Formats: sequence, structure tokens, C-alpha cells
Amino acid sequence: MGRLSRTALVVAIALASITGPGKVKEAVAASMIEEGRKIALDRKKGNCMACHVMAGATLPGNIGPPLVAMKARFPDKSKLREQIWDSSKINPNSLMPPFGRHEILTEDEIDRVVEFVHSL
Ligand code: HEC
Repeated sequence: MGRLSRTALVVAIALASITGPGKVKEAVAASMIEEGRKIALDRKKGNCMACHVMAGATLPGNIGPPLVAMKARFPDKSKLREQIWDSSKINPNSLMPPFGRHEILTEDEIDRVVEFVHSL
């Protein structure tokens, strides 16, 4: 289990003991989004704001489209994951780094970034 998953688990267990198991799923989702936000906005990790205007980004670039209203644009979360994992599958001339295929981010990290981006 990766460090991020452990953090999510610890948060879930802590919250379960306070709020009861009904809230656990919600808490896990919230902590996934928060971890995804950190990865996406980390210049040494996702660095998504180098090319995308997005919430929380300082000095964003505009090579890619702004990351807004993502649920409307990507009702299917797996399509969003595919775009982030390897954008060249969707656009062979894509300038976006293939974060999964080139192992820039781990599968765990990509899952979290997807949760975060889908929340924008
Ligand atoms: C080097 C520039 C660059 C970086 C860094 C980058 N992207 Fe992109 N992204 C693009 C471009 C350009 C597009 C437009 C489509 C294409 O060319 O693939 C795009 C498209 C997208 C789309 C599809 C948007 C739509 O409406 O179709 C998503 C989602 C996305 N990027 C997410 C991310 C995330 C998340 C990160 C960080 C983990 C990231 N991008 C990092 C350049 C980048």
C-alpha cells in the first residue's frame, strides 16, 4: 500500500470512529480529492498549471484548455483518466505529457488527480 493510500485509510478510520461508517465513503472521496489537488499543483509532480488554467493555480499557462466544468465535459471518469494517463491515444499530436505511459505519476497518484480534476 502506497503512502497516499495509507494516509487515506488513516483519515477514513479516524473519521469512521467519530462520525460512523456511513460517512466513510464521503471522507475517503474528500481526502482523495485533496491529495489529488496537491499532486496536480506540485511543480515536480503533475505541474498541470504549466499548461492549464485551473482553480488554485498561480501563474498558469494556457497551452491546454482551462480545467473547468469537468463533470460536464467528462461524464465518464474513465475517459478523463485516459486523457491524463496517455493523451496521445486521443490526440496523436498532443503536447500533454503521457503521465501514466511515461510513469511521470504512479497509478495511485493518477487516481487521485482524476478525482481532483473531476471535482473542478
Ligand atoms: C505541456 C502542457 C500540458 C501539461 C503539463 C498538462 N496538460 Fe493537459 N492538455 C494539454 C493540451 C495541449 C491539451 C489539449 C488536448 C491535447 O492536445 O491533448 C490538454 C488537455 C487536457 C484535458 C482535456 C480537456 C478537454 O476539455 O478536452 C485534461 C482533462 C487535461 N489536459 C488534464 C491535465 C492534467 C490533470 C494535467 C496534470 C497532471 C495536465 N493536463 C498537464 C497540455 C498539457
